[in-house]
Amino acid sequence: MFNLRKDGYNSSNNISYGNMFLIGNGHLGYRGTLEEFSKEEMVGLNVVGVYDQYLDKWRESINMPNPFFVKLLDYNIFNNNHLNHYIELDIKHALFKRNTEFTNLVIKAERFISQTIQNTIIFKYTIEAKEDVDTIVTFGMDLNIYEINGPHFKEYSIERFDNTLLFKGLTNENQTLYEEASYVFSDSFKELSYSKGLFTFNLLLNKTNKAEIYCIAKISENSHKNINKINKDLYIKYKDDHFKNFEKKWKNSDVVIKGNKEAQFAIRYSIYHLLILGNEEYKTSIPARGVSGQTYKGAIFWDTEIFLLPFFTLTNPKIANNLLEYRINTLQGALDKAKEYGHEGAFYAWESQEKGQDGCSKYNVTDPITNEPIRTYFNEKQIHISFDIAYALFQYINITLDESILTDDCFRMLIEICNFAISYSKKINGQYHLLDVIGPDEYHERIDDNAFTNYLVNYVIKETIKLLKKYSKSEELIIKYQNFINNLYLPKVNESGLIEQFNNYFNLEDTTVEVVRSRLRHPLDYWGTENGVAYPTRIIKQADVITLLVLLSNEFNYEVKKTNFDFYYPYTEHGSSLSSSMYSIVAAELNYNEITYDMFMKSATIDLGTNQKMFAGGIYIGGTHPASNGGSYLSLLFGMAGLKFKDGEIHLNPHLPYKIKGLEFKIIYQNNRYLIIVNEDNTYRLERLYD
Ligand code: IFM
Repeated sequence: MFNLRKDGYNSSNNISYGNMFLIGNGHLGYRGTLEEFSKEEMVGLNVVGVYDQYLDKWRESINMPNPFFVKLLDYNIFNNNHLNHYIELDIKHALFKRNTEFTNLVIKAERFISQTIQNTIIFKYTIEAKEDVDTIVTFGMDLNIYEINGPHFKEYSIERFDNTLLFKGLTNENQTLYEEASYVFSDSFKELSYSKGLFTFNLLLNKTNKAEIYCIAKISENSHKNINKINKDLYIKYKDDHFKNFEKKWKNSDVVIKGNKEAQFAIRYSIYHLLILGNEEYKTSIPARGVSGQTYKGAIFWDTEIFLLPFFTLTNPKIANNLLEYRINTLQGALDKAKEYGHEGAFYAWESQEKGQDGCSKYNVTDPITNEPIRTYFNEKQIHISFDIAYALFQYINITLDESILTDDCFRMLIEICNFAISYSKKINGQYHLLDVIGPDEYHERIDDNAFTNYLVNYVIKETIKLLKKYSKSEELIIKYQNFINNLYLPKVNESGLIEQFNNYFNLEDTTVEVVRSRLRHPLDYWGTENGVAYPTRIIKQADVITLLVLLSNEFNYEVKKTNFDFYYPYTEHGSSLSSSMYSIVAAELNYNEITYDMFMKSATIDLGTNQKMFAGGIYIGGTHPASNGGSYLSLLFGMAGLKFKDGEIHLNPHLPYKIKGLEFKIIYQNNRYLIIVNEDNTYRLERLYD
C-alpha cells in the first residue's frame, strides 16, 4: 500500500509520470523522469525559493543541471528494444526506482533527496549483465536544462576534479548557484572521453556481472569544497538515515482508511506529496506546484495557508510555523504592493516570490487561438490573499497555542492587513464595501462585495482586535477596527437561505456547466475574464461561498450549508484543483454520501492520472497539486470525521461515506498528541497518546 508502480513505456506519459513520480524535500524537487531523458522530456531538478527573470519573460524558480544523466548506447528506452520496464515510487521512503530489462542486460536505478543532509540528492545506477556486454555509456551532469521561461544562467562553467564535477552558474539576476556532483563507479568502466560534464566510458561486462555508478550531488548558494563523499557503504548509510527520517514523518501523519484500498492509497499518496514539501529548516514557503517545477513561476499562493497549513499544524507544527514565518518575513513586499496600487497596509502578492514580490503577470493566460495574452486582474484584485494569511495564523495559534509567533513583526503584519482592508474599502451610505475584487472563483473578475472576502475580513479584524486587547496594544487601533467591522457590509443569508457570491451574481445567466463548455471556441479557451464564456453566467470555477462555509464553519448552521451547497454545486466547474475538497467537507456534514466520497477521491487522486488539466488558456500549468493533496486530508478530518476545535476542546461528528469503513489518524492539538478512531457506524474514540 505504499508503492506506486507503472509498467511499460509510453512516451505520451512522460510529463504526467514526471509529476507522479516526483521526489523532494521541500527545498529541492526532482521529477520522475528516466536517466536517459533530457530537456525535451522535462527533466527537472527544481530549487525552491531561488528565482530569476530572463528578458521580459515571467520570473520563475530555477532548475539546475541534471547530475543523474546516464545513457547506454543501444540500450535506452527510446529505441524501444527493451523487454520489460517499470518505474516505482516507494512513498513510505520517498525513493524513486526504475527497472528496465533488455535482452542481455538489466538497468536498475534508484534516487532520493536526502531528508537528513540538506540540499543533497543521491543516486545509484546498476547495469546487470545477462550475457557478455560491450557497450558505450555516457553519464554525468546534463547541462541542457528544461526551463519554461529561461535560460536562467547567463554564464556558467563546469570544472572537473577527478570524478567530481562542479557547476557554477550565474543567473540573469546575478545570483551564483553551485551544483557539485561526485561519482564513484565500478572498475569495469574504462574512460574514453570527457566533455562538458559528461564522461564517456567503454563498459565490458561478463555474464552475471554488474557495474555500478553512485552519485551524490549538492546544490548550494555558496561554493562547497567538501561535498559528502559517496561509495557503496555510504550509500547504504545515507539511504538508511533517509528512510528512518521519512518513516518518522509518516508516524504522525498517516491516515488509515478501512475497507477501501483505493481510497487508502489515494490519501497516502496525497500525504506523500505533503511530506516531500515540508522541511523543518526554514528557507521559504511552499509553491503552488510544490517542487515539481516552474509552473506558476514557483510562487506561493493562498493554497499554502488554506489548504496545506492545517496538515502541518496538526502533524508537524514546526513546519507550519516556518510557513507563517515566511509571510511575516515578506511583509515588506506586501506593503510595497499595497502602495503600488494606491492602498495602505499589507496587500500580499497573489503569486509570492522570495521577498514577497508578486510574480503574477497582468496577462496571466493567453488566447489559445490567437496566442495573444489576455488581461487578467488576479494580482490586483484577489485581495482575499492577505486575509487568508491572517486566518491561517489564527488557526495555527488556536491549534498549537504557540503564541511565540506573535512577535512585534507578526503584530505589525496583522495590523497592516487590517489597515489594508480599511484602505481598500469604500464607504457608501454609512457602510463599508469591498468593491472591484476577485473572490476564490477566478472566472468572475472585478466583482463587488464577494461574500467570502467580506466575511473573512470581518473575521480577521475581529480576531485581531481580540489579540490587540489581550496584549494591551493600541486602544486607538482597536476603536478604529471595531468601527470598521461594525459597519462592514456582509452579504446576508437571504430569504431563500442563500448567500449571494457577489453583488448581482443572482442576475447572471442561469445555465449549466455543459452549456457553457459547448460555447468554447477552442478546448483550451480560458473561461474567465470579461470575454470568457463563464463570465456572463452563474458558472463558477471553484468553491467560493462553499469555501467560506468551510473556513467559518461555526458561523453558519446546517440549513444555510445545505441550501447553499444545493445551489452552488451544480454551477461549479471545478476548473481549479482547490474546489472539490471544499465541496467534500460540506457534503460530509450534510450526509451527502456519494458527493463526499467522489469529491474526496477527485481531490486525492489528482496527480495519479495521466489526463490532468495541463493548460489554462494556452499556458502550461502542469505539475503536482499540493493544495488538492492538502484538501483531501482536510476532507477526511474536517469533513468525514467532522473534526472541530472549540474552546480548547476537540469535537468529532463523523459522517463516513458508505465506501469508507473507518478512519484512524493522529493529531497534535494544543501540545498533546491524540489518536482518533472513527468506526463504520460513526462512533468514535479519541485517545490521548503519551509516547
Ligand atoms: O490559487 C489557485 C487559484 O485559487 C486557482 N488557480 C490556481 C491557483 C494556484 O493553485
